[in-house]
Parts: sequence; structure tokens; C-alpha cells
Amino acid sequence: MYYFIEPMVEEDITQVQEIERASFPTPWSPNTYRRELRNPTASRYIVARASTTPPPPRNRFAPAPQRRSGLLGMLLPHLFGDNGVVNAYPLVGYGGLWLTIEEAHITTIAVAPEYRGQGVGELLLTGLIDQALDMQATMLTLEVRVSNVVAQSLYLKYGFQPVGKRPRYYTDNGEDALIMSTQSIRTPEYQQQLSELRRNLFARLRSQAEGRGSPTDGRGRGAEHNHFTFNW
Ligand SMILES: CC(C)(COP(=O)(O)OP(=O)(O)OC[C@H]1O[C@@H](n2cnc3c(N)ncnc32)[C@H](O)[C@@H]1OP(=O)(O)O)[C@@H](O)C(=O)NCCC(=O)NCCS
Repeated sequence: MYYFIEPMVEEDITQVQEIERASFPTPWSPNTYRRELRNPTASRYIVARASTTPPPPRNRFAPAPQRRSGLLGMLLPHLFGDNGVVNAYPLVGYGGLWLTIEEAHITTIAVAPEYRGQGVGELLLTGLIDQALDMQATMLTLEVRVSNVVAQSLYLKYGFQPVGKRPRYYTDNGEDALIMSTQSIRTPEYQQQLSELRRNLFARLRSQAEGRGSPTDGRGRGAEHNHFTFNW
């Protein structure tokens, strides 16, 4: 399977909600996601999609569905859910962040249970770090349940360190949150660490895709098929 990152659009919210419900005890509502997506200066949300063949380069995707403007644009999604435009590639994970001054706060990251353990969470995290860099953030921070050792291990790998706790932060079970932050993501040292991690990740994704999939188009299959950069 090939995985790639795209910006989240409102039409994705239904699929995002399915993963959200399978991943978190207190899921965000569709309206919360809509509010986030309508505030692109302060927040960025991305999705990971899967493809059985190398997906086309980003600039060959069909243009994103146009959002309706005005009153109709505000009412239709509430009345009918998404507008019926379905992306051909299934959505397998998503993540988002907020920018506060120079700090990017990762608000959410999740992978559909059946796609976990294949590098998708890591691909999403690198996508979020790219967005933080694009928004001129100097560091990243987040909260994670003290019991969530899988997510903590992912964050540690990308240079996050525990810096404090928020006691009884999670309302469903009163669990503490561990606060984890990076040092500056703009130093040459961090950039080098990031490109090394990214190189290893793409090699892993490529070999997984080549081992399992059977792309038939005969094109060379490089890391670029697993991840694109895109203009926001
Ligand atoms: C956390 C989550 C996003 C990780 O996504 P994933 O696609 O399964 O993770 P990846 O396959 O990309 O693995 C990346 C790293 O995560 C950690 N990790 C993944 N699975 C793990 C496991 N079963 N045990 C321990 N660490 C694990 C490792 O550090 C791994 O790096 P490695 O492969 O070099 O060991 C995913 O488990 C998830 O959606 N969990 C539910 C939602 C959630 O808890 N989100 C975080 C909220 S703060």
C-alpha cells in the first residue's frame, strides 16, 4: 500500500469522524472540525490516504472540490453532511495543529486501527512538522495521556521530550496529561535529524509498498510516491 498526505477538506470530516470514534473516548464533533478548517491562518489539518498503486503527483490531482460560499455554503454541509464528492483514495489517518505565537500545538493525530504499525502515524507527524515550519513556528508541543506509551514513543522519536504534566486533564477518566515539547525545529541539528528520520521512513514505506502491492504501471517507484509536499 502507498500512503500520501493531503490537506484535510470539509468533505473528509465523515471519514475523519469514523477514525476519531475508534481512537478517542471523547471525539470532537463535526462542527469542531469545520471551525478548525475555516481558520487556516491559525490551524492546519492534514489527512493520510492509501493507494494500492503509486498515486499521481500532487499537481495531477483533480482540483480540490470548491467550497460553496455565502449562506448556502454555510447551510448545506449542516443540512446534508458532505457534498457528495468522494476522494478515490481511502482516508486512513489525520492530524492537526494550532499555531500560538511561535509555538505549534499538535491538537490531534490518529490512524485507523487496521492501518496502524505501518508508518502512517510517522508520515502524519512529519507532515505536521512540515506545516509547523511553513507557519514559521519555532517549536512544537502537545499533550498525551500518561498511559499512551505508543504515541509517546512516536513523539520521542521526533525529538519531543516530557516537560510537565496536567493533572486530571482528560475528563473521561481523570487521567493526567503528559506535556511534551521539542527544542527549536529550526536548528540545523533538528533539520538534519528530521531528514534522516524521513529518509528511513520513506525507505520503510517504499519497501512495504513494493513487498505487498503489485503496481502495474511500470514506472520507477521512489520515495516521492509515498509523500508529497503541497502548497497550502
Ligand atoms: C499513535 C498513533 C497515531 C501511531 O500511529 P501508527 O501508524 O500506528 O505508528 P507508526 O507505525 O508510524 O509508528 C511510529 C512509531 O510509533 C511507535 N509505535 C507504533 N506502534 C507501536 C507499538 N505497538 N508499541 C510501541 N510503540 C509503537 C514507535 O515509536 C514507532 O516507531 P518505530 O516503528 O521506529 O518503532 C496510532 O497508534 C493511533 O492512532 N493511536 C490512537 C490515537 C492516539 O492515541 N493518538 C495520539 C494522541 S496524543
